[in-house]
Amino acid sequence: MFQQQLYSYEDARAIARRRLPRMVFDYIDGTAGTGFGESLNLSALASVRLQPRVLVDVSMRDLSVAVFGSKCLLPFGVSPMAMCNLAAPEADRCLAKLSAKYKTPLGVSTMSSSTLEQLIEWSEGCAWFQLYFSGDGTQTFKLIDRAKHAGYSNLVLTLDVPEVARRPLDQRHGFTIPFRIGPRQLFDLLTHPRWTFGQVLAGIPGMANFAAEGFHFERTASRGKADWTTLRQIRDRWPGKLIAKGITSVEDALRLSKEGVDAIQVSGHGGRQLDALPPPILQLRAIRTAVGNDYPLFYDSGIRSGEDIVKAYAMGANFVFLGRSMQYAVAAGAGPGLEQWWKTLSNDVSITLALLGKTGLSSLAECTLASEPEPTVPEPSVP
Ligand SMILES: Cc1cc2nc3c(=O)[nH]c(=O)nc-3n(C[C@H](O)[C@H](O)[C@H](O)COP(=O)(O)O)c2cc1C
Repeated sequence: MFQQQLYSYEDARAIARRRLPRMVFDYIDGTAGTGFGESLNLSALASVRLQPRVLVDVSMRDLSVAVFGSKCLLPFGVSPMAMCNLAAPEADRCLAKLSAKYKTPLGVSTMSSSTLEQLIEWSEGCAWFQLYFSGDGTQTFKLIDRAKHAGYSNLVLTLDVPEVARRPLDQRHGFTIPFRIGPRQLFDLLTHPRWTFGQVLAGIPGMANFAAEGFHFERTASRGKADWTTLRQIRDRWPGKLIAKGITSVEDALRLSKEGVDAIQVSGHGGRQLDALPPPILQLRAIRTAVGNDYPLFYDSGIRSGEDIVKAYAMGANFVFLGRSMQYAVAAGAGPGLEQWWKTLSNDVSITLALLGKTGLSSLAECTLASEPEPTVPEPSVP
């Protein structure tokens, strides 16, 4: 029985940090480069100010939102993440179960630790398949056909990983998938016996989609060959909704929308790719201004609370995804921990709406006052 309370992101993270071997925790927690890019985005998010209004009847509030015409009962979903079962052996099932319960999207990574077929079944059709282009594209196109055959309607094409960024913590720990176990990693595993024992009993997680005959993926191999022609080929091959993830440039967003991409997921990959990135939460607003109000924009990166979720909607998102916090909650308390975290987030969203004088997640843009304080440009000195 899970006794602890996950009142905040920090609660879940602190428990996960104790439970997970250091190399696993740092793989989930880590960033590219120095981590400054992630900090900058977190501070930009913290600086978003929302203007409350009073004397509005907010006694009845509705957290549902429509995505591609389907009603999601909650305004947030799970961003695709590789190898979720490293957080806890049943992580994939727990995430899928909650997605099914609340009818919200479950991002299924190319490198998921359960097969894409299992995940669409467990999530009762709520799963979205996330695709990485790789090599010369042969495997990529096979995966598209496989996702189509499995019954997926939504394909998320991640575009911000032409190469996997250098993540110093992973390098320091010698973290690889599949694990390579030397004396250092062995010590880490033996000093976290509960996790290690659980994983050995369940079977060490691997990239489940590539256990099948004829499928192959090298995590660290270059994905750099994809270009606009590749996008058109993918668009032609995929009959369902196509979402481009990892976009922070206004120009890219405009072009993608013209090339027939159905939605854009503004994302900085949680600070795990280009450290020098402009804060994605600010780019979200710029992209919303450029594409207009009718084009679907999703957002992930740095969301740590229900109030952050509301802020992302206020900055222009039509739906919001969370990454690390989902893994920490599941590492902290498996299914019950995750459920508790979703309740904490939902209550927080609901209370934030009430405080703003809102009853739902639409028309939040009018609450946005300002984001990160503009840096002051010094006046040129007059000689
Ligand atoms: C451990 C881990 C693995 C990830 N794997 C993938 C992946 O396979 N594909 C992908 O598009 N994004 C992946 N991401 C990025 C997430 O989808 C998302 O963009 C990011 O985690 C959001 O930021 P947050 O963790 O601050 O919420 C991963 C993130 C983490 C933390």
